[in-house]
Amino acid sequence: MILSGGDPDALARAAGVLASGGLVAFPTETVYGLGARADDDAAVAAIFAVKGRPADHPLIVHVASRAHATHFAARLPDAAQRLMATLWPGPLTLIVPRAPDVATAAAGGHASIGLRCPAHPVAQALLAAAQRLGVPGIAAPSANRFGRISPTRAVHVAAEFGESLLVLDGGACEVGIESAIVDCTQGRLVLLRPGALTRSQIEAAAGQALHDRDAGSARAPGTLELHYAPRARLRLMSREALQAALQVLGPATSGVAVYSRTALEALQLQDGLNPRFRAMPDNAAAAGQELFAALRELDEPGVNLIWVESPPDTPEWEGVRDRLQRAAAA
Ligand code: TXA
Ligand code: MG
Repeated sequence: MILSGGDPDALARAAGVLASGGLVAFPTETVYGLGARADDDAAVAAIFAVKGRPADHPLIVHVASRAHATHFAARLPDAAQRLMATLWPGPLTLIVPRAPDVATAAAGGHASIGLRCPAHPVAQALLAAAQRLGVPGIAAPSANRFGRISPTRAVHVAAEFGESLLVLDGGACEVGIESAIVDCTQGRLVLLRPGALTRSQIEAAAGQALHDRDAGSARAPGTLELHYAPRARLRLMSREALQAALQVLGPATSGVAVYSRTALEALQLQDGLNPRFRAMPDNAAAAGQELFAALRELDEPGVNLIWVESPPDTPEWEGVRDRLQRAAAA
């Protein structure tokens, strides 16, 4: 059931469910999370079961503040501390060495742990209420079934998991794509997943260069394989390729949806062509905010192909580009 995240009774109820080992979905500024208390391996196991996620795929642990990170971390490297000081709360997950015997199931058995302090007021209120009941942090992946599109609205979560799950409604997520993930365990910083924060924002806060993952960097399960996929086949195309493809297709466009920064008229279609069309915002932040909701809407029964105009090749679009490339890898 969906309850308002602004309602103190709903928050108290959700905190109670978490404290007693149950699952609650809650909003963050990136996407909705499916949470369990991070210190309860059985509660965390229920997340893996409900999502259909392999048990060695580590979860992110959400904490109320920088101070709470120390409960889960064996140590906080200097660069991680600088990133926390500048960019927390916010859409940034830090991989740090895990404290021994803490949150083992949440970490998927790995020696490291992903920590994030979310900025969304409902997430903050839930963390505080759960904390008062003795919950040190909330392990939460995105609240979608494994491999599917992350939810950015409470109704998306209910559509994935049904009525029995308690979902706190915090409105539409402001960022809309998942947090950037920075691995701080390698002695240098490695970007495992781009997000809405740009590389230069992260580098400025860390006072260090940010490296790309390479064969030597730890594999982050879930960051390599297909992810974020709609049911329909998604293809990324340049404006020219999109235009040509639509013209070749002729009027038989019923199974095609188009998501493009270029207006349909500007694609110079012949008369009678009318694919399902949605305009992509021209700026990266707005495009990220609506991306997953837009893909869900375009991914209707009857739509077999979603053709998306490639986003610009500029730094602020990296997170959106990454999610679309993964969706296109299906
Ligand atoms: O914005 C977000 O990060 C959202 C919200 C709910 O916080 N969460 C999220 O979680 O996207 P999830 O589970 O869908 O993606 C987390 C990613 C996975 O690819 C996982 O492999 C990686 O983080 N990850 C978590 N802990 C890790 C660790 N210790 N080492 C390497 N990768 C890790
Ligand atoms: Mg996910």
